[in-house]
Amino acid sequence: MAEPYLLAEGMTGGYGAADILHGCTLKVEKGQIAVIVGPNGAGKSTAMKAVFGMLKLRGGHVRLGGRDITRLSPQERVAQGMAFVPQTHNVFPSMSVEENLEMGAFLRQDDFRPTIEQVYDLFPVLRDKRNQPAGELSGGQRQQVAVGRALMTQPQLLMLDEPTAGVSPIVMDELFDRIIEVARTGISILMVEQNARQALEIADIGYVLVQGANRYTDTGAALLADPEVRRTFLGG
Ligand SMILES: Nc1ncnc2c1ncn2[C@@H]1O[C@H](COP(=O)(O)OP(=O)(O)OP(=O)(O)O)[C@@H](O)[C@H]1O
Ligand SMILES: [Mg+2]
Repeated sequence: MAEPYLLAEGMTGGYGAADILHGCTLKVEKGQIAVIVGPNGAGKSTAMKAVFGMLKLRGGHVRLGGRDITRLSPQERVAQGMAFVPQTHNVFPSMSVEENLEMGAFLRQDDFRPTIEQVYDLFPVLRDKRNQPAGELSGGQRQQVAVGRALMTQPQLLMLDEPTAGVSPIVMDELFDRIIEVARTGISILMVEQNARQALEIADIGYVLVQGANRYTDTGAALLADPEVRRTFLGG
């Protein structure tokens, strides 16, 4: 069998002297939704940064579409098909919605107008608010801008760090529906989520990360059914 589209294996490293990640492994197949859950400070965001090339690894490697990208810069990884929506500061608040989307296309030489229209089709409210500063939008709408901006490079792997942070349950469900829609087009999703139960419900594969290491890995459904996982990480 061919290797998974994203294969981040044995990632070890941190920000300074002490390692945060200890042999962390993440795999995502084409068109799959992979969800990372775990306690605060477990290293979920750090693992995302490592996959995106924002963290120097002491060990392990990252492969995308069968090629080793461990030594590529984040910008080079974008060119290889990755897009990353960070946990915070993921929009330019003083720029309009449309300017945010245009910023997302910074690497493209071709006509990106059709992609903007695709983003507006996915998130119609953004079309209505295209000329408003992103900072004036609601939390859920800002997250749509952030996801839309990431889609502007036409990624094959979309990485989202807590896309539903601070939004209402209804807005969360809506955003998850849109993420499913994106995955159905063949784009792989790697997502960190604080709303663990709901996220695992839509996950093809789930990773429970604890202290920078894999604690449980299984289908979303299997993790949701596991009494130990439920008790320890999903609040019963
Ligand atoms: N830029 C940084 N420099 C130094 N240490 C950091 C940095 N960012 C995170 N850390 C530390 O790394 C560890 C893991 O943090 P990380 O942000 O990856 O956790 P997380 O699982 O994403 O947490 P949360 O659920 O709160 O988002 C924590 O101990 C944190 O204090
Ligand atoms: Mg985090």
